[in-house]
Amino acid sequence: MAQTPQLRKEIVIREVEGVPLLQAAVDNWSHIQNFQAKPDDLLICTYPKSGTTWIQEIVDMIEQNGDVEKCQRALIHHRHPFIEWAKPPQPSGVEKANAMPSPRILKTHLSTQLLPPSFWENNCKFLYVARNAKDCMVSYYHFQKMNQGLPEPGTWEEYFETFINGKVVWGSWFDHVKGWWEIKDRYQILFLFYEDIKRDPKHEIQKVIKFMGKNLDETVLNTIVQETAFEKMKENPMTNRSTVPKSMMDQSISPFMRKGMVGDWKNHFTVSQNERFDEIYKRKMEGTSIKFCLEL
Ligand code: A3P
Repeated sequence: MAQTPQLRKEIVIREVEGVPLLQAAVDNWSHIQNFQAKPDDLLICTYPKSGTTWIQEIVDMIEQNGDVEKCQRALIHHRHPFIEWAKPPQPSGVEKANAMPSPRILKTHLSTQLLPPSFWENNCKFLYVARNAKDCMVSYYHFQKMNQGLPEPGTWEEYFETFINGKVVWGSWFDHVKGWWEIKDRYQILFLFYEDIKRDPKHEIQKVIKFMGKNLDETVLNTIVQETAFEKMKENPMTNRSTVPKSMMDQSISPFMRKGMVGDWKNHFTVSQNERFDEIYKRKMEGTSIKFCLEL
C-alpha cells in the first residue's frame, strides 16, 4: 500500500494545445509530431476507455483471418504500437512503429489537432470508436483508480468535475469526439460506436472487414464474434492485462475488463449529476449531428 502514493507522485501532466498529456509523451513530442505515417497504415483512434482493446482484438482477428493461435502471439498492447506512448527506457510507440513491417496497424488516443500531420498527408485509414460520455467517464474513473501510471482520480464527485472540464489525460471527451466526427467524411474514416458493436457485433465487424479490404467467410466471421465477446476477452491473458505487474495495474482495485456493458453510468450518476451532465452535454455538443445510445 505504501508504494502507491509514492509511485503516483511521479506522474506529471503537461498540456499541449490545451490537452493534458503525460509528461513522457510531451518530452517526446517532436518525435511524435514528426512520425512518418505510410499510406497503407491503419490507425485505431479512440478516446480512452471507449473499447480500444476490443477493436484492436477485432482488427487483429480480421488481419489474421480468424486464426486464434496467431492472435495469441503477443499481448494486445504490444501488437499495435501506441503512437504517443513513451516510458523510457522502454522503446517508445514511435520507435516500435518505425520497427514494424508494413502494413502497420497503429493505435492512438490523440485528438485530431494533435495527430502527427503525416497521417493526413498520406491519406491513411482511420478506425474511430466512440463510446457514450457517461459510460466513458465511469470506465475512466475506475481505470484511474487501478492504473498507477495515471493520476489518482479522487472521489467520484471530484472526478465528475475533472472529466467534464476536460482535465483528464488526453483531454476533453467532447472535443475529441466532435473533432473526429466532424472530419469523418473528408478522410478514410470508419466511425463506429461501442454501443453498436455491443448490440450487433456481427454487423459492425462486417463493416470493419470491408473497411480493411478483406473478404472472410461466415465461419470466420462467427469465430471473430465469439472470440471478441467480453467474457472471452476477460479470460484471455493476451487481452485482460493480467500479465501487467500489480505495481502498474492493480486489478484487485478494479479489473481491466471491468463490466463491458452499456449503461453502467446509471449505477454511478446521481439524479442531480445526471441533470447537470445533460445540460453541459447539450451546450458542448451543440451543432453536431452525432447521436449516442445510452442504454441497450
Ligand atoms: P468498462 O470499464 O466499462 O468495463 P479501452 O480498451 O479503451 O481501455 O476500454 C476499456 C473498456 O472497454 C472497459 O469498459 C472494458 O471492460 C471494455 N471492453 C473491453 N473489451 C470488451 C469487449 N470484448 N466487449 C465489451 N466491452 C469491452
